[in-house]
Amino acid sequence: MGMIASAPGKVILFGEHAVVYGRAAVVGAIGLRCYVEVRRSDEVRIESPLGVTGLDFSVHPYVSYAIKRFSELVDFKGVNVRIRSEVPIASGLGSSAAVTVATIKALDEEFGAGMSMNDVFEMARLVELDVQGKGSGIDPFISTFGGVWVFPERRRVKCGDLEVAVLMTGKRSLTAEMVKAVAELRESYPEVVERIFDAINSISVRGAKAVEEGDLKALKDLFRMNHCMLRALGVSCREVEEAVSKLESLGMAAKVTGAGGGGCVIGIGEEVDRVREVGGFKVRLGEEGVRVEEKEHF
Ligand code: PMV
Repeated sequence: MGMIASAPGKVILFGEHAVVYGRAAVVGAIGLRCYVEVRRSDEVRIESPLGVTGLDFSVHPYVSYAIKRFSELVDFKGVNVRIRSEVPIASGLGSSAAVTVATIKALDEEFGAGMSMNDVFEMARLVELDVQGKGSGIDPFISTFGGVWVFPERRRVKCGDLEVAVLMTGKRSLTAEMVKAVAELRESYPEVVERIFDAINSISVRGAKAVEEGDLKALKDLFRMNHCMLRALGVSCREVEEAVSKLESLGMAAKVTGAGGGGCVIGIGEEVDRVREVGGFKVRLGEEGVRVEEKEHF
């Protein structure tokens, strides 16, 4: 066995899209993790559900760039990387950041580079930029440090045993497209869209307090309001609305999480357990960030 590290996925509770324009967002690590095993070798081999490759920037872009960035820090010949992820891909749950952060941490352990948590985050941030060209850095931050945080100020929010329901829409999450669509709407109607962002900012600020207090009633109200604002920004669609309706029919309040246009919706309320009845699952919030695993996880 080589070195194994794991890192969590995330959900955005409040503030997606508005955070791109400097407003507050509340984001939490979830109890779904990506496990990466790293073992030194003579060549690079990456094994995941996406296939078995060498250093391959199209099949395994995040892991390949993580290896490349790490090799700028430590000189090594090759490495075997094995990946098992509980975080569904392209769903807005932060699977890319989770695999990146876990890979860097496992490499750090295997080659004894002595990286701090912040070093891991900074490298994962560079990898995100290598692959995507841009990005808010929220995903690698949450995946590294865990917990629930308010962005952009990076304030940690205390969180008890909060659980949210997650339901996939069955459509891919389209981050770049949705961010562009919101930018266009803002171009056309700046004074209107800026006020929507301001409303979302207030929802996030109040939402952070509700998380801290475990105030389910307020969280439900704020979920509904945030979702209406996201609809106003044009990032909902039929599949998202259907998923929201399913959670609402079980008594929860529900909203888009992440970019929208597909991906996942999240629900909150006493009824989170019932999400299984409609094919979803529940996750705990505020889970631990990246860590080294002592046991075999494959
Ligand atoms: O769906 P995700 O996890 O890629 O989240 C996108 C969140 C946005 O606010 C829409 C964009 C961003 O970079 O913050």
